[in-house]
Amino acid sequence: MKTLIACYSYSGHTLKVAKRLQKEIDADLTVIETEKDKWYLFKILDSLREKKAVIKPCQTDLMNYDKLILCCPVWAGRTPAAINQYMFELKNIKDKEFGVFVTSGGSRSQKATVQIREYLDIQGMKFLGQMRLITKDVEAEKYGEIFPLFVAKFKDQQS
Ligand SMILES: Cc1cc2nc3c(=O)[nH]c(=O)nc-3n(C[C@H](O)[C@H](O)[C@H](O)COP(=O)(O)O)c2cc1C
Repeated sequence: MKTLIACYSYSGHTLKVAKRLQKEIDADLTVIETEKDKWYLFKILDSLREKKAVIKPCQTDLMNYDKLILCCPVWAGRTPAAINQYMFELKNIKDKEFGVFVTSGGSRSQKATVQIREYLDIQGMKFLGQMRLITKDVEAEKYGEIFPLFVAKFKDQQS
């Protein structure tokens, strides 16, 4: 059984790290994309209101996976609407394990990881670990000590 990395990334930072994670963990990667782009202000409002957005078809069925790493940028301190929709579309997730990875511009205060953890926990998934990286560190490829620790959570228990 394998790990699925599901990544929403608007300007490529989160996806850059997700691809590195994919190599390290030997996981599959599915990219979450919205059908339509929205203006900056609407992105903020949708995130604040915890709305969903129509996404293009991607891997949402965890039938052949035992772990999921959900990756996204922090928007208005919260999850982008695309991630809210992706979590809603997930299938066969009960008793599977999950991790959360977010990138953000710098603000320490954010609720995105809590939102994801609360939603997936209630759906019966088991939390393994989380990681947050700052945009400028991603640009400089300075992933720090947390990166190998996060990877190890998924590698050690690979079955
Ligand atoms: C609509 C929008 C809202 C954002 N809100 C926040 C925020 O609340 N806090 C923060 O630290 N960064 C915020 N950012 C910055 C992004 O989280 C950050 O640049 C991230 O690394 C971008 O990832 P991506 O390149 O994968 O899209 C926001 C960016 C956008 C476009």
